[in-house]
Amino acid sequence: MSHSHSERDLSGDVDVNPLFARPGELRSRPRTRLADLPMLPETAYQVVHDEAMLDGNARLNLATFVGTWMDDQARRLYLEAFDKNMIDKDEYPSTAAIEERCWRILADLWHAPDPARAIGTSTIGSSEACMLGGLAFKRRWQEARRAAGKPADRPNLVMSSAVQVVWEKFCNYWDVEPRYVPITEEHKTLDGTDLKSYVDENTIGVVSILGVTYTGMYEPVLTVSRALDEIQRETGLDIPIHVDGASGAMVAPFLQPHLEWDFRVPRVASINTSGHKYGLVNPGLGWVLWRDRDLLPESLVFKVSYLGGEMPTFGLNFSRPAAQVLVQYFQFLRLGRLGYHEVQKASQDVAKYLADRIGAMDAFELWNDASDIPVFAWRQKPGHGTNWTLYDVSDRLRMKGWLVPAYPMPDNLADTVVQRVVIRNGMSMDLATNLLADIEEAVAYLDKLTQPLPDVERSVFHH
Ligand SMILES: Cc1ncc(COP(=O)(O)O)c(C=O)c1O
Repeated sequence: MSHSHSERDLSGDVDVNPLFARPGELRSRPRTRLADLPMLPETAYQVVHDEAMLDGNARLNLATFVGTWMDDQARRLYLEAFDKNMIDKDEYPSTAAIEERCWRILADLWHAPDPARAIGTSTIGSSEACMLGGLAFKRRWQEARRAAGKPADRPNLVMSSAVQVVWEKFCNYWDVEPRYVPITEEHKTLDGTDLKSYVDENTIGVVSILGVTYTGMYEPVLTVSRALDEIQRETGLDIPIHVDGASGAMVAPFLQPHLEWDFRVPRVASINTSGHKYGLVNPGLGWVLWRDRDLLPESLVFKVSYLGGEMPTFGLNFSRPAAQVLVQYFQFLRLGRLGYHEVQKASQDVAKYLADRIGAMDAFELWNDASDIPVFAWRQKPGHGTNWTLYDVSDRLRMKGWLVPAYPMPDNLADTVVQRVVIRNGMSMDLATNLLADIEEAVAYLDKLTQPLPDVERSVFHH
């Protein structure tokens, strides 16, 4: 279910250019119901191709975290495998074996204390992966409460107010009370401060975000863990952490290898990442891992047939494309640790360069500087540009093809509007120099305004 599109998108017929239509073919098609007769594939291709042309250019989309560049060989593998279904383990045993190899590589990368006891799965993206992490928390808590003869009907989950929308969805869909710790100017991330007043015996877990969606900043997992250690000493409550490493779990191991955020922190029960973000695979692929298979309740696991036996699965979907998993393995083989380091470092160099230059402009001040993942946000300097806002900068950049969103920060910082860029593989220094020139040009133009631009209704940017 999505918002209804404009009349223009829904009314009238689709016209087919006479040059595309073959002799005898109809020159128009109904827009919102099936036509009675088929169309030649060439003609249908051209119609869809032309309409999709109106989308933004994916490489210039600096709003998305999702991969928009892959090697030709990765694309070839993708095309060779696009017809495989990940759930058909018995029919595609090699793909199933490669999936397991991938999450075992991640268990090693994230320092699982005993990788042989770790367990994981691929998913359609981090959203599904987060849901699975949350569900394992909820079920484990329920089972422990019931075993202790205590009520298990009011679970809550503690997290920052700047969580990605998937955590709101998780709480809404699975009847878990969300407890948001507000971020502030002084505490830009969930850093353990005052955690005590948010957790209780009904807390199923705490979410720590490695690469907050709004800004790209890391939450200090180790500090949060220590705060929970303190709470355990005082109250006996043993509350686990799930790390939402949608972006950061594929950056930190290569750019901040000494940062302890992963299974080196004993309280971290599970971690998710998006293979399709800094894992460098096109959409949609996610991963979720538990440090030990005991942390994933048996009651959530379903078996599918595999090589004459059975294989455990845990997922929200049944059918799901398998090609991305093969491409993930390709990237692991192709890049190794050094390759991942070089790719992420190149993105971070570009992000830091842009952050430096944007932060030096009169009009702006940085919220953060891309020293965590290659993402940063800035805001308008107080008093600068009374006739324009960051939304106007976003509009001006869109004229040049750049998609650079502006949006308010969550809840109690909602008066603060920031603009953010996500630098990914494929955004070269050369392109960045062009972006910078376009930002400078936009600001120079906006500074000349003698009155504000009309206050138009804006579409909301979703994280
Ligand atoms: C921190 C965080 N968690 C979860 C998600 C959802 O990930 P996906 O788009 O892979 O479903 C995102 C997406 O940006 C994110 O930034």
